[in-house]
Amino acid sequence: MKPVSFYLVTDTHYFENELGAEGKAFEKKMSTEQYFMKESSAIIKSTFERIGEDKDTDIVIIPGDLTKNGEKESHKSFIKELYKLKEKGKKIYVITAGHDYGEYSFAYKNDERIQVEGTDFNDLCDMYRDFGYGDAIAIDEPTHSYVAEIASGVRMLAICCDSFNQPKGAMDERHMAWAKEQIDKAKKDNCSVFAICHYPIIPSVPVFDLVGDAKIKEWRKVASFLADNGVELILTGHMHIQSINEFYSEKGNRLIDVCTSCLVGSPAKYRKITVDENSVLKVKTIDVEDFGWDLNGMSAQEYFHSHFAEAIVNRVRGALSGGKGIVKHLKSFAGKRFEKISVGTVERLFFIKRDKELKNKKLTELVGEIGVGIFLGDGVHTEGTPVYNFISGILKRFSFVLKKVEPKLEKDGVKVDLNSMLLNTIGNNKGYSDNDAEFKLR
Ligand SMILES: [Fe+2]
Ligand SMILES: [Fe+2]
Repeated sequence: MKPVSFYLVTDTHYFENELGAEGKAFEKKMSTEQYFMKESSAIIKSTFERIGEDKDTDIVIIPGDLTKNGEKESHKSFIKELYKLKEKGKKIYVITAGHDYGEYSFAYKNDERIQVEGTDFNDLCDMYRDFGYGDAIAIDEPTHSYVAEIASGVRMLAICCDSFNQPKGAMDERHMAWAKEQIDKAKKDNCSVFAICHYPIIPSVPVFDLVGDAKIKEWRKVASFLADNGVELILTGHMHIQSINEFYSEKGNRLIDVCTSCLVGSPAKYRKITVDENSVLKVKTIDVEDFGWDLNGMSAQEYFHSHFAEAIVNRVRGALSGGKGIVKHLKSFAGKRFEKISVGTVERLFFIKRDKELKNKKLTELVGEIGVGIFLGDGVHTEGTPVYNFISGILKRFSFVLKKVEPKLEKDGVKVDLNSMLLNTIGNNKGYSDNDAEFKLR
């Protein structure tokens, strides 16, 4: 691949605070969210300032979910920030995604959720004409996918698969035929091609293979299509997770999927990506740092991760409440236990070898930590670590349930091994980092 260098920022989820971000309904909403609404504009402004100061890299790529949920005012304010960055000499390329249009745009005022003006999908190309669409060599009108030559001899195939009236999170035959035409044209013009897409192509962690919306539909087919047509690199977002994965097609061609976190909530990272003159791809991860808010003595990263850990626990609490009759009683019992129980007690209940390090830890704390850890990438709970042993012990106790469930989860003849899926989700055994990695490209 020919040399190129750019910043990759994704899932900016900009929210215009003037619309309203306060009150009880807002607090309730935020209590289970991974990301921040009120802080988003300050985070984006400070990140763009940092990027603007870097004189070595003049390209910025943003693969979708630009706004909180398509609020017209959020788009307007976000576009102002893009123009400021452009004035600093940056060329910016965006695609839009499901959170950038539609009728589900809300703000929060007087303890209530209120509907605000959203954005029509058909207006997006024009709104972002100075940020990719205006430079496009070709645009696929139904989806808003496009191709742009972002550096000399380097073309970016920007795949939109979250478009109005089009298959959601999918690439159908028509869309693939259009992409193939563009890839072939680039080859004829002696250009290298890489791709971006809002949806991950390869499941970011093994367990996401079981989550419908966590990757593009028929992902092996799409990954093989790209790899076999000479696209070796794709940059994605959507799952708000740091991950890098390789996939090999049956013909032995490779696709590398670099999935990057949401900017405005844990993990709160972005990337600087370089392909050098020897075709070595270098992925460097950068933390969102101080963004000008008083965080009660916490660093920005501590602020993001502690909020997310709490949100994960709140989601479990939510799942353990409600219901009717006996279900309500069972849930209420489990919910009360979940609040108080220590990992040591769970180990004792399930006859798992007790570990000194985890013995007194509250289960809620561990659940939050594991969840945050998965999204940060570089899963540290590898074989032999206390958390691995704990989860592995629980899975062993429930192996009879897993064996019953696994055949039901099989898809396209691919067998499911829940034990290895879950353990490889909490511990990275890939042999390279999800955050800072190097690969020799063709
Ligand atoms: Fe998102
Ligand atoms: Fe998304």
